[in-house]
Formats: sequence, structure tokens, C-alpha cells
Amino acid sequence: MEKTIDENKQGESLVLEQKKGNTRKLFIESYGCAMNFSDSEIVASILSNEGFNTTQSLEDADLVLVNTCSIRDKAEQTVRKRLEKYNAVKRINPKMKVGVLGCMAERLKTKFLEEEKIVDLVVGPDAYKDLPNLIAEVDEGRDAINVILSKEETYGDISPVRLNSNGVTAFVSITRGCDNMCTFCVVPFTRGRERSRDPQSIIEEVNDLWAKGYKEITLLGQNVDSYLWYGGGLKKDFVNATEMQKATAVNFAQLLELCAKAQPNMRIRFSTSNPQDLTLDVIETMAKYDNICKHIHLPVQSGSNRILKEMNRLHTREEYFELIDNIRRILPECAISQDLIAGFPTETEEDHQDTLSLMDYVKYNFGYMFTYSERPGTLAGRKMEDDVPEETKKRRLAEIVQRQRDHSEIRTKEYLDTIVEVLIERESKKSDQQWSGRTSQNIVAVFPKEHYNIGDLVKVKVTDCTSATLIGTALGYSKDN
Ligand code: SAH
Ligand code: F3S
Repeated sequence: MEKTIDENKQGESLVLEQKKGNTRKLFIESYGCAMNFSDSEIVASILSNEGFNTTQSLEDADLVLVNTCSIRDKAEQTVRKRLEKYNAVKRINPKMKVGVLGCMAERLKTKFLEEEKIVDLVVGPDAYKDLPNLIAEVDEGRDAINVILSKEETYGDISPVRLNSNGVTAFVSITRGCDNMCTFCVVPFTRGRERSRDPQSIIEEVNDLWAKGYKEITLLGQNVDSYLWYGGGLKKDFVNATEMQKATAVNFAQLLELCAKAQPNMRIRFSTSNPQDLTLDVIETMAKYDNICKHIHLPVQSGSNRILKEMNRLHTREEYFELIDNIRRILPECAISQDLIAGFPTETEEDHQDTLSLMDYVKYNFGYMFTYSERPGTLAGRKMEDDVPEETKKRRLAEIVQRQRDHSEIRTKEYLDTIVEVLIERESKKSDQQWSGRTSQNIVAVFPKEHYNIGDLVKVKVTDCTSATLIGTALGYSKDN
């Protein structure tokens, strides 16, 4: 539970459908958030038109791409270690080219080419369409770089080639970038200004996924609730938007509804919500449609009003409680999860106690918890001293993690002896006799396989649980199967 997102999704390599006639081999792996995994599918799609098929073997690759994360120092160190491994392989296969994509590419730019001799190619998150030109340069023996950020690029016109991991769940990106400027966060610098994708292209992607057999999608954005599309492509900060354009605008609640209606049997999730932007109409839309999953990931970062202000999170602890109360009132069955940071600059013991008491109020189902990591270039990095000693940060994090463990256990136990609906995603890691899937609330459930298959939606009676997992037996197919 206390695992970071980086650790959860470490270095999965993508293998996609192979295109006939392609002769070059691409090894691509991703670190960090779901958006990076989604972006790697876009990159693989662009390169499959350039003669590249993917391979799972690093040793066989003509081109190695690593999609990187800058969110914490540790995430960057993980990538540096991977580069060492590529270097060892390159000694055996000197023709192999190495490219760095994503947030570290954007943050370090040409420094990467200077610091890491092994790197031939540096490409930021908005420049993937330039990859064919950049690779042509690399083929001619020159280093290549494009880290230009865009105010428009959404890759809406590229249909991602899906990694065939389970064929059941997929990510659909709806916004890119972030305008929130939380003072600790590097994302606005590495992923640029926020922009929303054309709803038409989103719906087409959802329909296409359903036609291909997918059963669940997650709408992705750094801050999905600020999704806003003005017909005709105007941005929301366009001051002269006409009344007509305003009237035809699509906000996040409307987009959710469009998706839910387009595929009434498709499960729909979304991530991530910033509390300051999550509106009641989103919660009401969730209540209206059975196929919108009842889970909200609602990072809070801290329970102290003073720290929230220093972080430039534009809500108070009291406003957050009001939001939680509204969710509980409109959607009593909804699971809520958190992100929390321990040891932000100037955090006192009292601030830390505020975080613990906020957790006690909400009793989150699960969460992702981190110690503060100073990021160069951010406002906190420039203006605030990283003054909480490392041991204090670690001790506070341990207390937060323990509190979350206690709450997860309470929450998971609430499902004992109930019947939950589970979408089967894969074989359980612990037993090849069991399936593993998730409930609408995003809680993992395992149960004996019997005659069921991956992609089935089944009713499961919960007979036992651990702090994070429901254990049960299937009672039959769900009516929506
Ligand atoms: N809106 C984003 C949040 C991105 S970062 C999303 O879609 O998930 C994910 C989490 O990393 C944040 O919620 C925060 O808890 C954590 N984080 C971000 N910057 C951090 C830093 N400098 N130190 C420690 N944790 C950080
Ligand atoms: Fe980062 Fe805050 Fe945006 S955490 S991604 S700046 S909402």
C-alpha cells in the first residue's frame, strides 16, 4: 500500500502487435505515472509506421527508449541505474541507440547528452510526433533532441497501439499538462500547460476499445476535473470566447456522461482529481450511471491548513471535509483514496498531527504516501529550505503508512459477507488456481477460477480479506456481463 507509483509500475516493457514488413526492433519501457504508460503506447504507434516492431529483449534491440519520471529524486535515480544497464548491453551491441523520453528529458534537456554519454536521443512529452525526424538524425550519427512544449498537442489523432497485457483494461488520455502549480511539483514544468482533448476523438477511442473487447477504461489527466473543451478548439483561457462557444463547451462531468452513454457496459474510471476542481456535478454524474466506477482518487497532500497554503493547494482542510461529506451523501458506496506527502518544508509536529487527524476523519480505502523530495525549479525548491530532517520525514511517513494500513483494514472488512461485482483481469499472483480482478471501488478481489474467464464480470461473495485484498467465491455472471 505504501508503495510509490514508481515502484508499482517499475520498468514494464511494452510488446505490441507486430506489423509485417517492419525490420527494426524497439525496446521501450516506462516508469512513473499512468500517463507515461499511455504515452509509450502513442510512441510505439508512431514508430510502428517507421519500420519498428517491439521486442521484450533488450539485447536484441536496435533502439531502446526509456520513458522517464521526475516526480521524486528516487524516480530519477532508478532511471540512471537503467542507463547503466543499457550501457553494459551497448558494449556487446554497439549499434544499439538509446533515447530518453518523458519528464526527465524535459527537465534535463541537453544536460542529458552531456552527462550520460550513452544517450543518443532526448525527447520531451510533447515532441513525440517529431520522433521519425529525430531518429533519422541519430541514424546519421548525430545526437538529436526536441524538448519543445506545446499548448495544443494532445495526440488526439493518434490511435495508440495497445500493449496486449490483459486486453481488458486500457488508459484513455483526456488532458495533458497541468496549470495548478502546486509548489512541490515538477509536472507543470515537464509537461507544460494544461490542454484538453477533443471529446469526439475520446469517444471514438472508447468505442474502438469496446469493439476490440476491452471492458474498462481509465480517463487520464493530471487534473481531470479541469477538463474543458470549447467547440472549435478554443482554449478556456481565450478571453473572447463567444456565448455560443461557451454554450457548446464540454466539461468533465459532461465528458463522463458522454462516455458512460456511448458504452453503457464499459466500466469507466478516471484519475486524478484535485479537490479544488472536483465539482458536485461530477459526483452526481457518477451516481447516475452504474458503469461509472465508484472510486475517487482525491490526493490531499497534507491535513494542515498552513501547509496546504504553502503547497499552493487552493482549498482548506474544512473545504476538503465538506467535499468528503458530499461524496458520502451522494455516493455512499464510493471508495476514496489519497496521496500524502510527509515532511514538506516547515512542517511541524502539529502539522503532522493534522494530517493524521484528517486521515482519521476520512478513513481512506487506500493511498500512496511519500516523503517530500525537493525538485529543482519548483517554487518550493527555489524559495523554501528543505528543513525537515530525513529521519523525521521517514518517521512521519511510517506513522502515516501505519494509520493508512489500519484504515484500509477497517474499510476492507466492511465488505465481508457482502456480494461485490468483479471484472476479472488476470491470474492471481499468489495462485494459478485463482483469478484476480477489481471491484467498482477499485479494491482487488481474488477467487477460484472455476469456469470463468479473463474479461468476465462476475458476482463474488466475500468470505475473507487481508488489509488490501478481498477473498471470496464467484456466485455467477453479473447481469451486465
Ligand atoms: N495530479 C497528478 C499528481 C501527480 S504527482 C496525478 O495525476 O497523479 C503524484 C503524487 O506524487 C502527488 O499527488 C504527490 O503526492 C506526489 N508528489 C509530487 N511531487 C512530489 C515531491 N516533490 N515530493 C514528494 N512527493 C511528491
Ligand atoms: Fe502536480 Fe499539483 Fe498538477 S500535484 S500535476 S501541480 S495538480
